[in-house]
Amino acid sequence: MTRPALPREFAPRLIDWQRRAGRSGLPWQHTREPYRVWLSEVMLQQTQVSTVLDYYPRFLTRFPDVNALADALPDEVMALWSGLGYYSRARNLHRCAQAVVAEHGGVFPRTAETLQTLPGIGASTAAAIAAFCHGERISILDGNVRRVLSRLLAFEGDLAQAGPQRQLWDLAQALLPDAPTPDDMTAYTQGLMDLGATLCQRSRPTCASCPVQSLCRAHGAGEVQRFPVKTRRLMRKFERWWLLLLRSRDQQGRERFWLQRRPAPGIWAGLYCPPVFASEQTLLEALPAHPPDALLALEPVAHSLTHRELHLHPMLLDVMPDSPGLAPHAGQWVETGALADHGLPTPVRQLLGRLA
Ligand code: ADE
Repeated sequence: MTRPALPREFAPRLIDWQRRAGRSGLPWQHTREPYRVWLSEVMLQQTQVSTVLDYYPRFLTRFPDVNALADALPDEVMALWSGLGYYSRARNLHRCAQAVVAEHGGVFPRTAETLQTLPGIGASTAAAIAAFCHGERISILDGNVRRVLSRLLAFEGDLAQAGPQRQLWDLAQALLPDAPTPDDMTAYTQGLMDLGATLCQRSRPTCASCPVQSLCRAHGAGEVQRFPVKTRRLMRKFERWWLLLLRSRDQQGRERFWLQRRPAPGIWAGLYCPPVFASEQTLLEALPAHPPDALLALEPVAHSLTHRELHLHPMLLDVMPDSPGLAPHAGQWVETGALADHGLPTPVRQLLGRLA
């Protein structure tokens, strides 16, 4: 079966639309500095623009260039990342900065092909950096763009599978503008992102305002909602965790909590967290000697991760000022005032913040 020809009008229309109506005031636009573009793309991988707007300038103030980041202590990188989630991104970010300094003389490689060899830079992020910074003629293909292109082409392949993913990538390459200038590649790449984030959303897309509506095969067939085709749906495993919030005061009367570094690999690896138990029983067995009614069960908190649905059961226990903590479990007392300097998982930060 022969495929219908690709719509040649797609790239020029998308570029024109991006320049007229796309996003233009984001702090990582209007720069071709790879460090800044790379940082924004990694932050935006699984996080909304509105959240990144808050973190991005703070991170750049503390780490203005790749050398500053490479020299940082891992804990400080984690603390600045705290709340953005998907913490392997922060570990890879730090490793990537170190690799750029050690292996590339402090200069990011120019091509998507070489960028992809660095920690935490996948094919789509590499393409975004190379297109934005150097005008390389290469297509991004993140989740949003897969949706846009699978609708445009009414692409029937199952995107849960590797073969169809590769096919769609080849089609994405074939749709790129002809002989683009660097500015064309910037507008085109940003246009794909903008279309996916604004008009061509997963549910209730705004086709009436879409610059490529007349080219869109899914729209023509009245089947926009059927694309992208994806059989495998993510199943989250349900888990209950009991958190022991051990609270005391130091000699000066300052409030503090007993926190442990989460082991790697695993959920929240490298972050600071109250001791975690698989059941209320094991938590009770680990307690230091105390009057049994002093343990206070707080409101449970639900928290979703990519592959887990966590139900957190916080249990608060106030202990004496000279308490050794939860010996022999490795951990440390952290003053309430110093929590901001520690990388904490978001629900833990919220919990402790409510108590402090
Ligand atoms: N998502 C990923 N990259 C982005 C960018 N450069 N602008 C807006 N959203 C994005």
